[in-house]
Amino acid sequence: MFVNFRRIRKCQCVQLMTTCLVLSVMMVCWEQLDNSVVSHVKSYSYRYLVNRFTYINKSLTIPREQARSFSNFRYLLDHPKKCVGKDVLLLLFVKTSPENIERRNAIRSTWGNETYIQNALGVTVKVVFALGAPQTRKGEPSWSKRSGIGFQEQLIHEDSRHGDLVQQDFLDSFHNLTLKLIMQFHWMHNRCAHARFLMTADDDIFVHMPNLVNYLQEMSSRGVTDFWIGRVHRGAPPIRSKDSKYFVSFEMYQWLSYPDYTAGAGYVVSSDVADKIYQATLTLNASLYIDDVFMGICANAVGVSPQEHVYFSGEGKAPYHLCIYDQMMTSHGHVEDIYDLWKAATHPQVKQTTSGLIGRLYCTAVKMSLLCKPYYFNTYPCKAAFV
Ligand SMILES: *[C@@H]1O[C@H](CO)[C@@H](O)[C@H](O)[C@H]1NC(C)=O
Ligand SMILES: *[C@@H]1O[C@H](CO)[C@@H](O)[C@H](O)[C@H]1NC(C)=O
Ligand SMILES: *[C@@H]1O[C@H](CO)[C@@H](O)[C@H](O)[C@H]1NC(C)=O
Ligand SMILES: *[C@@H]1O[C@H](CO)[C@@H](O)[C@H](O)[C@H]1NC(C)=O
Repeated sequence: MFVNFRRIRKCQCVQLMTTCLVLSVMMVCWEQLDNSVVSHVKSYSYRYLVNRFTYINKSLTIPREQARSFSNFRYLLDHPKKCVGKDVLLLLFVKTSPENIERRNAIRSTWGNETYIQNALGVTVKVVFALGAPQTRKGEPSWSKRSGIGFQEQLIHEDSRHGDLVQQDFLDSFHNLTLKLIMQFHWMHNRCAHARFLMTADDDIFVHMPNLVNYLQEMSSRGVTDFWIGRVHRGAPPIRSKDSKYFVSFEMYQWLSYPDYTAGAGYVVSSDVADKIYQATLTLNASLYIDDVFMGICANAVGVSPQEHVYFSGEGKAPYHLCIYDQMMTSHGHVEDIYDLWKAATHPQVKQTTSGLIGRLYCTAVKMSLLCKPYYFNTYPCKAAFV
């Protein structure tokens, strides 16, 4: 009896300890889940209740002389004549860093090849790389040490071959991305104001240039204004966790959610919007270093809101398939595969396979199977299968 009792107690003890362990693990996880769910629910409802954000504009407006400190950096590399005398459909800025020369070369010989675009598509697109100053000493990569010339000299050399680098004298770093954004809008205002559209893109995205050009030509012939298109983030909350790359302090941004904005990986604005954004940068405090969010704040200040295009991908990578190539605009996260993807996506076979009634039916079925998954899968949304 006594022995039995002790056994039971031992068993219960183990049971109790296991229960405690499971509960505490659950609580730790729940807290994380809860934090992000609650903050998204809060910010999302906040966005729909408040919706206007006019006070953001008011509280971030600073005197022009002070706002100038975010834009009056000296140009280290510049091409004032780039757009002169040309009917430019699209000015396309690729945000890049000094060390990413391979990515720039890949873009130059695939989707960003201006000669190809001019010859094959019959329009003028200017592809320009936006960058800041390289870190001296510490961040120098091995190749520049090996060859014995400095980083900036390498860039000057690269620019003399291709003539497509635009660089200002601020340190090229993640926390200076907003300065890079401002540089792009100021450069367009001063050097290429007559371009009909402005696009800004990461250097690891793939742009389906023929599809994009077709689309923009159609928009241009309709004379669109107030046009801002990409993957839209609505009611996104500022991230308050200090460990995150996207951490934003209350001093920097005190509200529960950001105004709507498009993912920085790639978006397009019409020239009237570009001009309004330029005007906004002359009076806003640009210390918020998340560049796409800052773009949202500028747009909000001038009364422009973004529109969703299902084939702009944001963070996601498109599935490899002819039926996707037929409609894709941008896809994120391509470096090594960019040459193959460019070849495959622009191959005449794409149009052959996807045209006609049979082709369209086939592609709808394929796209449904690729995009409409029951679990979360970061690429184009399910509704893209039906457009
Ligand atoms: C760009 O395209 C043209 C014409 O299609 C081609 O001759 C040229 O080699 C390409 N440039 C690069 C850098 O691949
Ligand atoms: C941004 O650039 C400025 C000017 O070069 C520099 O002083 C500053 O340290 C940079 N900020 C960051 C966070 O890299
Ligand atoms: C801009 O905002 C930052 C906080 O994010 C603040 O420290 C700074 O003083 C502001 N600049 C001006 C000129 O008000
Ligand atoms: C934002 O502020 C500026 C200057 O204070 C003002 O001219 C503009 O109308 C404001 N924008 C909105 C949408 O309220």
